[in-house]
This record gives sequence, structure tokens and C-alpha cells, in this order.
Amino acid sequence: MLQNLRHLISPDDLTVEETMQLLELAGRIKDAPSAYSDVCRGKKLATLFYEPSTRTRLSFETAMINLGGNIIGFSDAASSSAAKGETVSDTIKIISIFADIIAIRHPKEGAALVASLNSTVPVINAGDGGHQHPTQTLTDLNTIYSLKGRLDHLKIGFCGDLKFGRTVHSLIDALVRYPGNEFALISPDELRVPGYIKNEVLTRSGHSYTEVDKLENVIGDLDILYMTRVQRERFFNEEDYIRLKDRYILDAAKMKLAGEQMLVLHPLPRVNEIAVEVDKDPRAVYFKQVEYGVYARMALILKLLELA
Ligand code: CP
Repeated sequence: MLQNLRHLISPDDLTVEETMQLLELAGRIKDAPSAYSDVCRGKKLATLFYEPSTRTRLSFETAMINLGGNIIGFSDAASSSAAKGETVSDTIKIISIFADIIAIRHPKEGAALVASLNSTVPVINAGDGGHQHPTQTLTDLNTIYSLKGRLDHLKIGFCGDLKFGRTVHSLIDALVRYPGNEFALISPDELRVPGYIKNEVLTRSGHSYTEVDKLENVIGDLDILYMTRVQRERFFNEEDYIRLKDRYILDAAKMKLAGEQMLVLHPLPRVNEIAVEVDKDPRAVYFKQVEYGVYARMALILKLLELA
């Protein structure tokens, strides 16, 4: 039985101090992984994925295996009793009998919160609809902190689908907690950041932001460019998706306009928004980002299981 049951539903569930402690722990794990290879012996992680995933689910499972623990779960709701009409609440009551910690992805906003309210073990939100994706945020913060050495006084450009991109919402939520960050929100009108992020997160925290249509107008000023995919699965009609999907394509010509120190991040999967020719540019760190995600998730599992 854990003394202090904690969940991670949004980045705000960790204080800035706790987030920094997690990133420091992730760095120590990266430097000496064998020191952590047995810490979760006898523990079980359940991965409950009601939506497709490659990175997040396998990153969680890799993290638990690297810590010496075991994994159970499903990668397709159709193979679970959700297909027979079982609610998330009931499923979680059952899974918390089997597992010590749960990671859940669900297409409905708020599903992870519902899960946490019905669980006797820690619940981690692995993405709830277009809302939040806090462990992608830990991945992104770990990448930026490891490669830039700081999370403050950065100029960050978010480009693409800022309306449905839950990784964008979570990362903005996290970065406004550090001083001096400036935000360029690069999207077509239809895919702007939701009003609540602008009003309740950016403006309320006193951070400046600009909304622009053209990536070329701001790329030269950025420390971080966070590219995103247009989220086909969240569009109401295919015509709008087709019209907007190739609006931004980062290619070698646009990279020439960027500074030498700018880093390109992307939560992945990529579709067309980053040309493959950019992959060999040393500023493109979206594949390294995936590795930083495993260390961040290892650190998070240790914290929520009170093993660190
Ligand atoms: N970044 C991310 O959430 O990727 P997956 O959808 O593959 O998990």
C-alpha cells in the first residue's frame, strides 16, 4: 500500500520542484541504467490503450522492463471488455486489483481523471482525447533540459495543429511555470490554440505570445521549434483535414532560415510536416526525444511507486 497515492493526469500534478527532481533522476538513470535494473522487481504496470499508439505504450513498457518489473494490458479496446460495454470506472477497479500502476490512453477528454478517481493505484494519463499528454511533456522537457541546459528564457515556436494537439496544450501548461519563456503560435486560423490555453494559461501567467500564420516569419528567432501533425482522427470532416494537412512542411530550405542552435522537436508520429531530408540535420532531435522519453517514464514510475 502506497503512503501517498499520486496520479499524473496533467503536468500541474507535479510541482516545478518535483518536475526538476524527476528530470535530474532521468539524467542519472541515463548515465547509469544498470543501477536501476532491478528496482521494480515484482511490480506490475498495466497499459490500457483505448487509442492507437506506438511510442507511448512501448516506451512505458520498455521503462518498466528496464526497471525489472512486469507489464500487462491491452493495446486495442476491441480486445477488452470495453467492447461489451464495460465502463472505464469498472475496468479500473478491476485492473487496480491486478497491477501496481496504470497508464491509460483514451479518446475521451477526462477519461484519465475518471480512471484516477476509481483507482487504488497510481494512474498516469497517456493521452486523453485532444486534452492532455503529460508524459509526452516530461519527454519534451527532458529533451530540452538535457540538450539546452535550461527550461527558462526560451523562445518556443509551436507549429501545426495547435487546436487538437494535446502535446502542445500540455507543454505550454508546463513551460509557463518557468520565467522568461516566449511563445510563437504558428497555425492557420482554423487550428489555433484553444481560448482557454491563451486566456487561462498564457495570459494568466503573464507570458507573452504571438499568433502567426507563416513559419518563415518567426523561425529565425526560435530556440525550439515544436512541429506537430494535423490530427486527422479529431476532425469532423475529411475535406477540412485534406485542406489543412500539408499547410506546414519543414524542409531543408526553411531550416536554412533557422539559427544554428535551434532544436526541432516533434512528439511523432510524423506524416508530411517534416521532410525526411531534415532528419540528418543535427538540429533535428525528434528521434533522440523518444529515448529521453523512456528515461523520463522510468523516473516517473519510480516516483509514483515511492521507490525514488
Ligand atoms: N507521441 C505519441 O504519443 O506517440 P504515439 O501516439 O505513437 O504513442
